[in-house]
Amino acid sequence: MRQPPRLRTGGLFHLYRLRALAKDMTMQSVEIKKDIFWVGAVDYDNRDFHGYSLSPQGSTYNAYLVKDEKNVLFDTVSAKCAGTMLCRLASVLPPEKVDYIVCNHMEPDHAGALAQVVERCKPEKIFCSKMGLQSMKGYFDISNWPVQAVQNGETISIGKRTITFVETRMLHWPDSMVSYIPQDKLLISNDAFGQNIASTARYVDEYEPAALLQAIKEYYYNIVLPYSPQVLKALPVVEGLDIDMIAPDHGLIHRGKDAVQRIVDIYRTLAEQKTQRRAVIIYDSMWHSTERMASAIASGMEEKGVPVRLMSLKKNHHSAVMTELADCGAVIAGSPTHNNTVLPYVASTLTYMKGLRPKNRIGAAFGSYGWSGESPRIIHEWLESMGMDMPVAALKQQWAPNKDCFKACHAFGGAVAEALIQKCGG
Ligand code: FEO
Repeated sequence: MRQPPRLRTGGLFHLYRLRALAKDMTMQSVEIKKDIFWVGAVDYDNRDFHGYSLSPQGSTYNAYLVKDEKNVLFDTVSAKCAGTMLCRLASVLPPEKVDYIVCNHMEPDHAGALAQVVERCKPEKIFCSKMGLQSMKGYFDISNWPVQAVQNGETISIGKRTITFVETRMLHWPDSMVSYIPQDKLLISNDAFGQNIASTARYVDEYEPAALLQAIKEYYYNIVLPYSPQVLKALPVVEGLDIDMIAPDHGLIHRGKDAVQRIVDIYRTLAEQKTQRRAVIIYDSMWHSTERMASAIASGMEEKGVPVRLMSLKKNHHSAVMTELADCGAVIAGSPTHNNTVLPYVASTLTYMKGLRPKNRIGAAFGSYGWSGESPRIIHEWLESMGMDMPVAALKQQWAPNKDCFKACHAFGGAVAEALIQKCGG
């Protein structure tokens, strides 16, 4: 039988093929400044980043190409998007013309495609932070790669431009750094200032403002929150630079001085975590008793003038709870007692929340039970271990709530609301 012709994969043929693919599949680059191109990938299918739900839309892995005397690629994409990125890259210049690759961060959503890109581009140098060198060695065999670890604040020249590398350790990995190009007033910020948005839009001004703000809060509260002290230290550094564009590695680009100032201000507000006069009640329920307690607690809070949102953990992912927490100064959590402990959705949400280290919150716990009744105490201790103020004792109800229980729940909600109002200062 006649065999199909083998595809040639090297040299010029490969470049033409990449270019043809780029054109056919609209995998075109986007010029974000003169001779600076977005060459990333939109991943509409990703639904999870280490427990952070990206439903319903996915994410975008941004990579940027600067054309100068040295052509520089900043970051790559996840391994499965390597072909897409190379197509976009090939729409600007042959991949083998990339001289330098900068790896601002080695997490595989940005460095997963690195081996394929190095193989294709054969760069003269690969730059990363000192900590990045350690993680790069952990992920890849780099014995033949021309890797150069840079110092914090080190500047290299690429022709008409320079690049200054600024370490942002633990924002959010030890290796994290950002790259600043003063000639273009451009900060390539890696994970900082990003959002998990999958869209054909490339800039924040192309997106609906309320949805954008929600995406920024979601990203911050599910990724960046534990590193808020580092954010508060980094923001003055960013404000000290002359920047009119922040290009993150996820989502949309902040273009223009106003947009830059806006995202810096949003980050400062999110990082400060000032107590807000609003509450969220999270709960799971077996036979609706804890659910009915939750409603009565909410009515007690509303009566005191505190807006409150009820979130059933059967219907709301823990990522959505964290996003809601961005606007809440109080968390009231409830679970019936099941097998001498809390229900699984409650346990997973509290585990996730504790890891993200929210600050300046008030907590309270409640739940129904049949015969042993441990869950309110367990939740109370869990919230307390997160450093939350616990102004009221845990509330529990045996079997179904009755009239007295609803009164107690109402009073419980009112007491939490009063404590919250006092903590907010008025
Ligand atoms: Fe988007 Fe830490 O990787």
